[in-house]
Amino acid sequence: MARLLCLVILPLISVLPFSYASPLLMLSTGSSLFVEEHKQTFLTSPNADFSCGFYEVGGNAFSFSIWFTNSKNRTVVWSANPKSPVNGHGSKVTLNHEGNLVLADVNGTANWDSKTSSGKGTTAVLLDTGNLVIRDSTGTKLWQSFWAPTDTLLPLQPLTKGTRLVSGYFNLYFDNDNVLRLMYDGPEISSIYWPSPDYSVFDIGRTSYNGSRNAILDTEGHFLSTDKLDIKAADWGAGINRRLTLDYDGNLRMYSLNASDGSWKVSWQAIAKLCDVHGLCGENGICEFLPSFKCSCPPGYEMRDPTNWSRGCRPLFSKNCSKIEEYEFFKLAQTDFYGFDLIINQSISLKECKKTCLDICSCSAVTYKTGSGTCYIKYVLFNGYSSTNFPGDNYIKLPKNMVSKQSDLSCNPTKEIVLGSSSMYGMNDANKNYATYYVFAAVLGALVLIFTGTSWWFLYSKHNIPMSMEAGYRMVTSQFRMFTYRELREATGKFKEEIGRGASGIVYRGVLEDKRVIAVKRLMNISHGEEEFWAEMSIIGRINHMNLVRMWGFCSEGQQKLLVYEYVDNESLDKYLFGDVSAERLLAWSQRFKIALGTARGLAYLHHECLEWVVHCDVKPENILLTRDFEVKIADFGLAKLSKRDSTSLNFTHMRGTMGYMAPEWALNSPINAKVDVYSYGVVLLEIVTGSRISSGIKVDGREVELRDFVQVMKHILATGDVKDVIDTRLNGHFNSEQAKVMVEVAISCLEERNSRPTMDEIAKAFLACDDQDNHPAYSW
Ligand SMILES: *[C@@H]1O[C@H](CO)[C@@H](O)[C@H](O)[C@H]1NC(C)=O
Ligand SMILES: *[C@@H]1O[C@H](CO)[C@@H](O)[C@H](O)[C@H]1NC(C)=O
Ligand SMILES: *[C@@H]1O[C@H](CO)[C@@H](O)[C@H](O)[C@H]1NC(C)=O
Ligand SMILES: *[C@@H]1O[C@H](CO)[C@@H](O)[C@H](O)[C@H]1NC(C)=O
Ligand SMILES: *[C@@H]1O[C@H](CO)[C@@H](O)[C@H](O)[C@H]1NC(C)=O
Ligand SMILES: *[C@@H]1O[C@H](CO)[C@@H](O)[C@H](O)[C@H]1NC(C)=O
Ligand SMILES: *[C@@H]1O[C@H](CO)[C@@H](O)[C@H](O)[C@H]1NC(C)=O
Repeated sequence: MARLLCLVILPLISVLPFSYASPLLMLSTGSSLFVEEHKQTFLTSPNADFSCGFYEVGGNAFSFSIWFTNSKNRTVVWSANPKSPVNGHGSKVTLNHEGNLVLADVNGTANWDSKTSSGKGTTAVLLDTGNLVIRDSTGTKLWQSFWAPTDTLLPLQPLTKGTRLVSGYFNLYFDNDNVLRLMYDGPEISSIYWPSPDYSVFDIGRTSYNGSRNAILDTEGHFLSTDKLDIKAADWGAGINRRLTLDYDGNLRMYSLNASDGSWKVSWQAIAKLCDVHGLCGENGICEFLPSFKCSCPPGYEMRDPTNWSRGCRPLFSKNCSKIEEYEFFKLAQTDFYGFDLIINQSISLKECKKTCLDICSCSAVTYKTGSGTCYIKYVLFNGYSSTNFPGDNYIKLPKNMVSKQSDLSCNPTKEIVLGSSSMYGMNDANKNYATYYVFAAVLGALVLIFTGTSWWFLYSKHNIPMSMEAGYRMVTSQFRMFTYRELREATGKFKEEIGRGASGIVYRGVLEDKRVIAVKRLMNISHGEEEFWAEMSIIGRINHMNLVRMWGFCSEGQQKLLVYEYVDNESLDKYLFGDVSAERLLAWSQRFKIALGTARGLAYLHHECLEWVVHCDVKPENILLTRDFEVKIADFGLAKLSKRDSTSLNFTHMRGTMGYMAPEWALNSPINAKVDVYSYGVVLLEIVTGSRISSGIKVDGREVELRDFVQVMKHILATGDVKDVIDTRLNGHFNSEQAKVMVEVAISCLEERNSRPTMDEIAKAFLACDDQDNHPAYSW
């Protein structure tokens, strides 16, 4: 009955006398905020930036919180009771006569209180900074919300020895060694993931010497900590509302508020690839970055709780040492479970590595790196991570009968190319927003690198690179720098030796003072302002992958814009493929497969592992350079946004690329994404397989046909039998038919309608599955 009354009366209350908002500037002793009036009565800061009151966290569940008044979705920056909401009826916040601010639930229990007691004359006010302050009658500060952060730091709110940001199992805190860190602190394990545990504090430019332990975000977007962490928002400067939030996915991000539409933009983030956050997929789970992340369970394991990845996967067999069972290994290519190594052995064979694991009952898996013969014996499997760039494989220990049940990864691309993004974590939507913002983080990351010379770079690097490699690593990464025009003019002998020419500029060969051979690209038609140019450079400069031409620096002096690249010995792919290629120059099948795989890997890195927006836009054999060992080095990436043709729009509404390799959507004026590269790659792949210039017209039985019709022919050939008919006849039948079939299948799928095309990551995986060379080179970057 009482409930019925409530139902009748409440709507009345809300439409009748209180329907206008009456925010308060101060709460004095004896006054309360009632949950039923949360829409009308709340505290506000004098500048109206912040509000404080009851915030609805779910159906009939409320927290006492502070939020940004003008943000689209009432972004909460502090909560008194983040984990234990109060009832939507009958709860209230009272500054009682003792001067204690008390949050009381419907039954009268105190859910939270400020533990202040200075009697009458106590006041609670919300300051312009978003700080809720309780003062006694003399104006002395007794308590403030800035002392008890939840998951967010506001400008001028210090993070100190005694405080930490917490979001789920993730923490931002000062460790015992005075270093500001991110840690996964779960029920089973704790694991630090930022700064990367693979490097020493000093190597990443921090220090553990200063014991004051204090970090603060200033009003200009500058986040400084006593351990020498020094970060700037991409849009740093005064006049923007910002916050530093430890998000529920474990990443620490700085956000800037767009005052005109109330939306947030990420202006810095700690982790570039979410899979580097530890504990995301739970125990035994494996994370993949595509570029939103996806969790999965290894074979022989299943999700413990189908609704919650943080609980991970459980084995479908009993791990019982007293039970004698026969075990075997199942290979998880390019996967690792970070940390928890029982033993690390160097320079041993895979067989010895597996044997060691079989001999140790508590060994659950091994990670093995072919190049160095390093063997990691794992006892618990946490922080699983799968990436086409991880230089090793994991072998998971399973009972014999289970291994045989797992269908081996066959050479079957149609099985591999399944867009498996069951977003159990509910991350995909949120990540879409982040994707567009990654660019800001990227700009910043690199600007920090350039301007301050810190080794911030390491944070983006792969984990599991042994400490001993650090020195070499640092050398490589610190090579990126700005050159003077004079320096480059001298290095190239006044731009004497031209080695290439493209739409974006002319390339010259040069030699630096330290004897490094370089390729200098002199850009034409650059319309960008200095600042934009720097931003682009810093992004390109950060890209570092064995299948991409490394950029060592750039020069920007007035109209002179030059890019400095590593010099790649051999010529581009087209010189080895088309026309009158001499017999010794003709690419053998194994070389062709390696080139297809290397190109896929390089593009996959551009699309998935760096930042999604790095779309090449001009994939063609001329841009696929080859080293002496026929390793692929893709050239000319990252320039899409610099070209004048695109200057009117960042959405590439203007065509670019090379006829014959361009996806139909260029002409259709639809939005351009990474799938345009997949299309171009498909054309290149067909050219590698057939050895003829597909892009400049195809002749079938002496008749010119369209690419579309040619694809139909290919499909027919695939369906009815032999791919032999389309393979380059100059190979005289010397090819691997399994691989050829996969390559043609992949090529065809690349030329489909945009949404049906696979991603470069999927393509790289499909090729890896049928790579007959088991000894991949160690991926030294
Ligand atoms: C933010 O608000 C918009 C509409 O105002 C809504 O569509 C969206 O789902 C909200 N986002 C979140 C994360 O609550
Ligand atoms: C009051 O309600 C809260 C939450 O509903 C509950 O945890 C607490 O035990 C209750 N207290 C009493 C005295 O009933
Ligand atoms: C620690 O850092 C603070 C703030 O940067 C500085 O004022 C102080 O002098 C430092 N202390 C030491 C011992 O370096
Ligand atoms: C803020 O939002 C408006 C409207 O969506 C947009 O036009 C403007 O470019 C945004 N400003 C910034 C700095 O992103
Ligand atoms: C997921 O599981 C963890 C650990 O059991 C728990 O703390 C968390 O609340 C769960 N999350 C959801 C959304 O159920
Ligand atoms: C392990 O196996 C032995 C023998 O089969 C059994 O007695 C024991 O209870 C098992 N222990 C666990 C933890 O399952
Ligand atoms: C691996 O290392 C352990 C401990 O360092 C050692 O006892 C063992 O013999 C090594 N195994 C091999 C195969 O070298």
